Amino acid sequence: MPSYRAPRGTRDLLPEARAGLSRLEAIARSLAARYGYREMEIPLFEQTAVFERGIGEATDVVEKELFRLAPRTEDSEAWALRPEATAGLVRAFVQHGMHTLPQPVKLTVVGPMFRYDRPQAGRYRQFWQWDAEVLGDQGPAVDAELIELGWRFYNEAGVSGVQVLLNSIGDAACRPAYLESLTEYFRANAPVLPELERRRLETNPLRLLDSKDPSMVALIAAAPKISECLCADCAAHFSAVKAHLDALGVPYRVAPMLVRGLDYYTRTAFEYYRSGAEGQQQALGGGGRYDGLVELLGGRATPGIGFALGLDRVLLALEESGVEAVREAPPLAVVTGADPADTVTRLRVASLLRGEGLAVRVELAPRKLSRQLETASKEHAHFAVIIGDELAEGNVQLKDLEAGTQRLVPLSDLARELARAAKSHHHG
Ligand code: HAM
Repeated sequence: MPSYRAPRGTRDLLPEARAGLSRLEAIARSLAARYGYREMEIPLFEQTAVFERGIGEATDVVEKELFRLAPRTEDSEAWALRPEATAGLVRAFVQHGMHTLPQPVKLTVVGPMFRYDRPQAGRYRQFWQWDAEVLGDQGPAVDAELIELGWRFYNEAGVSGVQVLLNSIGDAACRPAYLESLTEYFRANAPVLPELERRRLETNPLRLLDSKDPSMVALIAAAPKISECLCADCAAHFSAVKAHLDALGVPYRVAPMLVRGLDYYTRTAFEYYRSGAEGQQQALGGGGRYDGLVELLGGRATPGIGFALGLDRVLLALEESGVEAVREAPPLAVVTGADPADTVTRLRVASLLRGEGLAVRVELAPRKLSRQLETASKEHAHFAVIIGDELAEGNVQLKDLEAGTQRLVPLSDLARELARAAKSHHHG
């Protein structure tokens, strides 16, 4: 027999891990609502061109990590699994004419993303992001509002000591001159550049700054810094973002070499790290401004900014810092019966209670009542409903497994009794 396993770089989220992810999703949704973001869905795959154009062809995400889907017929469109949500969301913004809505438009997506990267701790081929985007506001106040939102997420999730690494990477006015001096600098060092970086030097020199090649570290550290080449408008924008973050009390550190791995960024760029864990693979989340992306994908010029937080890495960080995993709630009640063979009545009573919105388990194994009750206690159910001869008069026994007491309850009152107990004990 073959033994099948989940594909490399993916993992099954067993119920306990799923509960942890659900908790993060619930925090994200609650925050999104508080900050005025509207949740939506976009497909898990798009035309490949959306990513190639949006994210940039000479980026790791597109060049090396895109999950391209095999075409079904010769003339069919080229599709790829989404490596992130921003390009798809902006595609949807343009497609549905959202520029006619009151601006800014604040959108959010929670879901799986796919990157064909070399799997390692915290780096998966399928991973989850909480993504938030603001379209139609050029900042700088909204930049700080968004950065604070991400920071608050980590606080509410229970990840301590998160700080923001912040940079401005300029715009169409000042970046060209910077890229020239960067290209000049790396050209002078061309002989020692790894193959991929030498190629990118001519197509996309900024990408050399976030190269994952260990031989690049020293070279990158000594490279010219964009922060020293910002035009007056970009510099003023950056100062104002910082002033707003100061006022909000969000801890940040300016990181002059932070350029992010995607091509659409302009001006504000940021990443979230736990202090002391600032290695390249460890970003808990990141984002930035993309004032040219909507136009690039066929819409009219609209500024934008957003972030994506890596939920798998948040779960890992919580695990590492010893935060207790989410415990699944035990059932409020287990429906048991004195007659092991009578599964019909037990199932009927359970169905009645479930119809009233109560979380109950029902014993369907034909075993002795004492065994049924033992299991109910072991799984920390609060009550056992015991069906016996009293049912002839319309009653059942309700045993409080926590208090060790038992009383007769009319079947017609059972749901109400349990619901009252559930409310006062936060069950179910
Ligand atoms: P990103 O930096 O590529 O940005 O990804 C954001 C976060 O997703 C990372 O900081 C990390 O936590 C998580 N992440 C990325 N790749 C993986 C992986 N292979 N395994 C596990 N987690 C991963 C973006 O995706 C942009 N769309 C962010 C953005 C939104 N910019 C503007 N709006």
